[in-house]
Amino acid sequence: MCGIVAYVGPKEACPILLNGLKRLEYRGYDSAGVALMNGELQTFKKKGKVAQLQTLIEHVDQSSTIGLGHTRWATHGAPNDTNAHPHRSGNGRLVMVHNGIIENYSSLRKALERDGHTFKSDTDTEVLVHLIEEIQTHDDLPLEEAVRIALSRVVGAYAIVLMDAQNPDQLVAARKASPLVIGIGENEYFLASDATPLVEYTKKVIYLKDEEIAVVNRNGDMEIKTLTNEIQTPYVQELDMKIEMLEKDGYDYFMHKEIHQQTETIADCMRGRLRLDEPYIRLGGVEEYEKRLLDAQRIIIAACGTSWHAGLIAEYLFEELVRVPVEVEYASEFRYRNPILTEDDVVIALSQSGETADTLAALEMAKQKGALIYGIVNVVGSSIARLTDAGSYIHAGPEIGVASTKAFTGQVTLLTMMAISLGRKKGTISNSTFHRLLNELHNIPVKVAKVLEYEEQIKYIAGEIKDRQHALYLGRGYNFPIALEGALKLKEISYIHAEGYPAAEMKHGPIALIDEEMPVIVIATNKSAYEKIVSNIQEVKARKGLVIAVVTEGDTAISQMADYTIEIPDTEEPLTPLLSVIPLQLLSYHIAVMRDCDVDQPRNLAKSVTVE
Ligand code: G6P
Repeated sequence: MCGIVAYVGPKEACPILLNGLKRLEYRGYDSAGVALMNGELQTFKKKGKVAQLQTLIEHVDQSSTIGLGHTRWATHGAPNDTNAHPHRSGNGRLVMVHNGIIENYSSLRKALERDGHTFKSDTDTEVLVHLIEEIQTHDDLPLEEAVRIALSRVVGAYAIVLMDAQNPDQLVAARKASPLVIGIGENEYFLASDATPLVEYTKKVIYLKDEEIAVVNRNGDMEIKTLTNEIQTPYVQELDMKIEMLEKDGYDYFMHKEIHQQTETIADCMRGRLRLDEPYIRLGGVEEYEKRLLDAQRIIIAACGTSWHAGLIAEYLFEELVRVPVEVEYASEFRYRNPILTEDDVVIALSQSGETADTLAALEMAKQKGALIYGIVNVVGSSIARLTDAGSYIHAGPEIGVASTKAFTGQVTLLTMMAISLGRKKGTISNSTFHRLLNELHNIPVKVAKVLEYEEQIKYIAGEIKDRQHALYLGRGYNFPIALEGALKLKEISYIHAEGYPAAEMKHGPIALIDEEMPVIVIATNKSAYEKIVSNIQEVKARKGLVIAVVTEGDTAISQMADYTIEIPDTEEPLTPLLSVIPLQLLSYHIAVMRDCDVDQPRNLAKSVTVE
């Protein structure tokens, strides 16, 4: 979704803005722009990539030491040069970038038009900057005050940064439900939608809170107030991010790097939390709220996209190991359903970014209804991490590829540890099961490395099916969510239509689609339902479908039936998803590369969906 970067200080702003916008490209966008102050306020905007914007401003005076930058993911109005940000106020004095949606923009626009304002774009953002100008000029107010009054009239979500041509030493920023980070340097400030554009300049950051306004000045002064005008004491944090984490490290795509990183990221997620010698699993968030978690009458998991698939795996894990009922909800549906929630419920939010608007709103609703809310997120300091009563980070490091890979296995690892530790405390798993699962989980990174060794074979299979129009993914039990995830990965990055199905459900619909043109990817590692999976494969073969089976090493029966097989090491059934998802990630990746797709930034998709 939209990305913001802004700078004020002694350095030339333009390279910082362009560099920052490139760092934010991963969020997904369709146009980009910058505003600079070279004697007068100038804006440059371009549909397309940041590289095109860079070409546009190649010969422009770049000496400005203050500026705004933006990548836009279209919501109101088509992706074009006019709708791209930054947007100017009617008198041209103000310029603004915005991430979020102003829901009442239409009524605000009509009222402003009655007062003589005319608009160039179709955006809600232009309406807001006109409203701020109207308030500023009407009562001759300082910009910050005008912003404060304007925001009190706005319904919706926003992170905004403004520059005033009459005060070129100052930036004014505000947020509600869309993220904004302030980086603090020597007499300089950086503002951005996340920490990735800041990390090469400073490690000192402030995460602006909801309904706060920040005013930062070139002389180093900074003030943060609430929308109700109360001065806040900012909490300055140290960034735990290195610049190398944001580079491709020799890989062609971030997604490829992130798939390969999983041997380390799964281990990082367990580091200090799982010990074999004592033996124990310790999760700070779980220990803090142990009683409420153990007494929970129900666990509800709210998430979107790939995180929702991790939630489905947790349903199997918690029901089997902790014997507690689990419901897995699409956050976007859950939040509007007026669900029945009580103080005995635990709501777990899963989110890589910690900023997904629907997941955040679902949590706010659950919190109001008194449920314990627990966050499992990757991005440190994100909105969900700050809203929840308790939580655990997955420690996967920045995930740049839009299609989630290492964050998914991080979430599943964390949920597995949580289920094992609660199961042990509740007495719903035996000591021997506890020890077996613990040992095996500890061993998973080594087994992931083993799966990655099959990459050449997976690449070969990718070549065989890369030109198909459709694909079907089948799995049972713990592998059913993996079938959904495999299909989602293929859709997201290679634009091949794919569906995931519980293998037995195939007979109730998708079987009608099977012919020699249809590749069917069957995740067939289940010990408990082995015979049933074999029957499902036979049903596909009988209709001439092309079967690609993911099997346990040493399997012979399925290998004889399938057209292609991919082996994964044997493991405990509840841990299978951590291995079986890897070949499916690699398969989608190689198909997308062979189809010349933009793997890291697939069309229309955003990494962090900060609007509804
Ligand atoms: C977007 C991303 C997906 C992600 C989903 C949920 O759709 O493209 O990769 O799974 O949002 O994001 P979250 O950050 O909440 O996990």
